[in-house]
Amino acid sequence: WAAPAGAILLGYLLGSIPFGVILTRAFGAGDLRTIGSGNIGATNVLRTGRKGLAAATLVLDGAKGALAVIIAAYAFPGHEIPAAAAAFIGHLYPVWLKFKGGKGVATLLGICLALCWPVGLIFAAVWLAMLALLRISSVAGMTAAISSPIAAALVGCFDQVLLLIALALLVLWKHRANIDRLFAGTEPRVGGSKDA
Ligand code: G3P
Repeated sequence: WAAPAGAILLGYLLGSIPFGVILTRAFGAGDLRTIGSGNIGATNVLRTGRKGLAAATLVLDGAKGALAVIIAAYAFPGHEIPAAAAAFIGHLYPVWLKFKGGKGVATLLGICLALCWPVGLIFAAVWLAMLALLRISSVAGMTAAISSPIAAALVGCFDQVLLLIALALLVLWKHRANIDRLFAGTEPRVGGSKDA
């Protein structure tokens, strides 16, 4: 049991690092949880007007998911999936923020790239295409998440399909306030005037 437990602990500790909160606080951009949607992800960092910090949050939130898988592959071979799941849960429910974490899109991208890179590329392509088309971050993220288990099945990464179905469902669950706003027609667009 030591190896799966180690993989889960490693994943959770990495995933629970709230880079958006840390970076905005460190660089004087305020408390992210009192800004915009209150979310700790890159989209909300962008609402502070600090594009560099938003890009860094996107990269680091993705990197922690990828690193959890890569380190697990060396330290706990065969236990990459528990490490990935724990990193994702760590991002969504970090003990350091009283379990109020992010929505998982960037971390899921990193996980996909590390577990089965073609799935990561498809995820990124769907996310970018939807963002370019609609300019609504939540829709782009949810669509990319839903596409990930389908992509895994299509490219033959069958071991990841169940994990990605579960993580995509969690992404949808964490976006429930966004879904309500989408139906109400009040979800802000990236770079739009209603950006709050
Ligand atoms: O990745 C988070 C994004 O999908 C939505 O963020 O701040 O608009 O709720 P936000």
